[in-house]
Amino acid sequence: MTDDPLALFDAWYAEAKAAEINDPDAMSVATATPEGRPSVRIVLLKGHGPEGFVFYTNADSRKGEELASNPQAALLFHWKALRRQVRVEGAVEEVSAAEADAYFATRGRDSQIGAWASDQSRPLDRRETFEARCDEARSRFEGSDVPRPPRWTGFRVKPERIEFWSDRPHRLHERRLFTRSEDGWDEGLLYP
Ligand SMILES: Cc1cc2nc3c(=O)[nH]c(=O)nc-3n(C[C@H](O)[C@H](O)[C@H](O)COP(=O)(O)O)c2cc1C
Repeated sequence: MTDDPLALFDAWYAEAKAAEINDPDAMSVATATPEGRPSVRIVLLKGHGPEGFVFYTNADSRKGEELASNPQAALLFHWKALRRQVRVEGAVEEVSAAEADAYFATRGRDSQIGAWASDQSRPLDRRETFEARCDEARSRFEGSDVPRPPRWTGFRVKPERIEFWSDRPHRLHERRLFTRSEDGWDEGLLYP
């Protein structure tokens, strides 16, 4: 049994990719205002490793604004087919412009256009307004690569706590909690 939570995450993630019918990379991300009012939504995991767990979004979204004033987040993966969850908590930093550019370049053109058209979390009067903004972005970038919108970026959650939960019979669920220490990770078992 590994004592490296990132290796354990890789193993569980690989099993989730094989077992889940869709979105094994979907995770809830919770953020909060400086006053401690929480909000949560699903995003897709786009990279992970010892430095952290990365997702992409619009920095002007609600989550982006909350992270700007309170750079802490909690992530939750729920892999239903496996009856497992992984909880990650830690401080958040924005990825570099070069990293965001590189990821944006891998997205399909329609998603790139959508990123220009969407002011995420800002209400729009009608669906047609959004479609008109897509058309406008489409003609603006016709015949050229779509650059990354300046407020479209990635955030990296640097794990300080990672908990692995797996279902066991008779509600004797297993919970392994890893907390970041000076030179690695401390591990403890939690009781269901
Ligand atoms: C399966 C799924 C994947 C999603 N992936 C992303 C994502 O990677 N990035 C993102 O900004 N929003 C994603 N969304 C939309 C968010 O849940 C949310 O509606 C949006 O980011 C605005 O959130 P906010 O107003 O709280 O900032 C996804 C939604 C679902 C259901």
